[in-house]
Amino acid sequence: MEKKIHYSTKIKDAFFRQVIDYVGAGVVITDPSMPDNPIIYTNEAFESITGYSTKEIIGQNCRFLQGEKTSRAEVDKVRSAIEKEQSVTVELLNYRKDETPFWNELSMYPIFVPDEDKLYFVGIQRDVSDRKSEEIRAEGYKEEASLLSTPFVPISEKICILPLVGNIDSKRWEEIYERISAHVYDHDEEIFIMDLQGIQTVNEDVHSGILRLQKLLKVMGARLLVTGLEPSTAKASVHLADFRKHQISFFASVQQALDSIRAKH
Ligand SMILES: Cc1cc2nc3c(=O)[nH]c(=O)nc-3n(C[C@H](O)[C@H](O)[C@H](O)COP(=O)(O)O)c2cc1C
Repeated sequence: MEKKIHYSTKIKDAFFRQVIDYVGAGVVITDPSMPDNPIIYTNEAFESITGYSTKEIIGQNCRFLQGEKTSRAEVDKVRSAIEKEQSVTVELLNYRKDETPFWNELSMYPIFVPDEDKLYFVGIQRDVSDRKSEEIRAEGYKEEASLLSTPFVPISEKICILPLVGNIDSKRWEEIYERISAHVYDHDEEIFIMDLQGIQTVNEDVHSGILRLQKLLKVMGARLLVTGLEPSTAKASVHLADFRKHQISFFASVQQALDSIRAKH
């Protein structure tokens, strides 16, 4: 025969509290029927993550964990989820009691308790600072790699060379447009020499990328010279005639391009 176990509410509460305390993540329960949706329960992990004792924060809204650098957009997502009584997961920069910042991966769920005919919100907090700082560091490397893959070599006040190596995919083109336009804007250069000698595959993407770059530079009052295109490249779907039509000068080498500029000045 199946054994039925009955717990008194008291035992149940004590039992679940202990279980929740064993959970490695912070747990917070709030009561939206009370003014400003205050905290009515926190577990031990929440205390150790934030440095606040339950006594200190009971009755407060969780926003006291936010500070100067907390993303307003992420906080808005939480507010909107609460309004719609939906669950949400966000990454918030929060601040401990000693004011040190930490990355809080907050998952928030609306929980309806039928016995009480009442809605509560439960928040699960995980300190993801280590992962986040890895991500931020990786972003930094990516940015550095992007800077290295789009190096600007100023030759004179008015001339700048951009030697490109490797492959250029659409993302790298976007970086090139962005960096070149910022560079021309800052330095007021007149002539940009784009050297494609180190480019592995000169395909349709490179072709249309160059045409787009030419248009961009023209609007900014600068000229584009393309160097390093082998005659055989013409076969590789890059139509040099198309470049001529768009008044893009192309040369076999940077030296030839510079000689031509000097001859004209
Ligand atoms: C259950 C629950 C847990 C929450 N936990 C956090 C938290 O750990 N950190 C935080 O910055 N905000 C947290 N919030 C969000 C804030 O309490 C608040 O809802 C948010 O700041 C949006 O409202 P506001 O724009 O009025 O500040 C939590 C909200 C709920 C309902």
